[in-house]
Amino acid sequence: LKVGVLISGRGSNLQALLDAASDPSFPAEIVLVASNVPGVTGLERAEKASVATATVNHRDYENRVSFDTAITQTLEKAGVEFVCLAGFMRLVTKEFVEHWHNRMINIHPALLPLFPGLDTHQRALDEGCKLHGCTVHYVRHEMDSGPIVGQAAVPVLSDDTESSLAARVLTAEHKLYPECLRLIAEGKVTIEGNELISPVIFP
Ligand code: GRF
Repeated sequence: LKVGVLISGRGSNLQALLDAASDPSFPAEIVLVASNVPGVTGLERAEKASVATATVNHRDYENRVSFDTAITQTLEKAGVEFVCLAGFMRLVTKEFVEHWHNRMINIHPALLPLFPGLDTHQRALDEGCKLHGCTVHYVRHEMDSGPIVGQAAVPVLSDDTESSLAARVLTAEHKLYPECLRLIAEGKVTIEGNELISPVIFP
């Protein structure tokens, strides 16, 4: 499976995917890493792994549709069949979501359907959650929705700060994301409409 990863920054989840894909037995190949922000660390990570990179700066486009069209063209020129969003901080258009329907997943730092959107760790702390975690899901038009592929939970400790909790969740993300991509690439994940028919992945 030829995979493109979309990023906007640090790219630690990208790194986890690159590391997994560097094993010849991994069933997916990362053929392109594209960022909407120039010069980010994630692009350096891709270069180090000898993976092709592209920068498609949203500021160079008049609107979301033309930006998303450029992203799709860039991905398809590289032969991408499947898209992983990994800290890609742009809302995507309906057209983009439809184009990549059931061919695009995202990682979100919360146990969806709890805490869609931003500031998930602080919100989990504020709500007094004792468990928190991360979710890999297929992308649908409503933000942070779509069939859940896998989830990993971590405890919330009484002395946690936003950053200590975020770090614990991030470690779980780095296990969860490659595992979900692996099972998808092996054809072991099936969806019907908006439901996952195969078992949800708990790594
Ligand atoms: C991660 O927490 C991910 O869940 C969220 O954005 C963050 C990206 O981090 N969508 P990184 O760029 O992968 O290090």
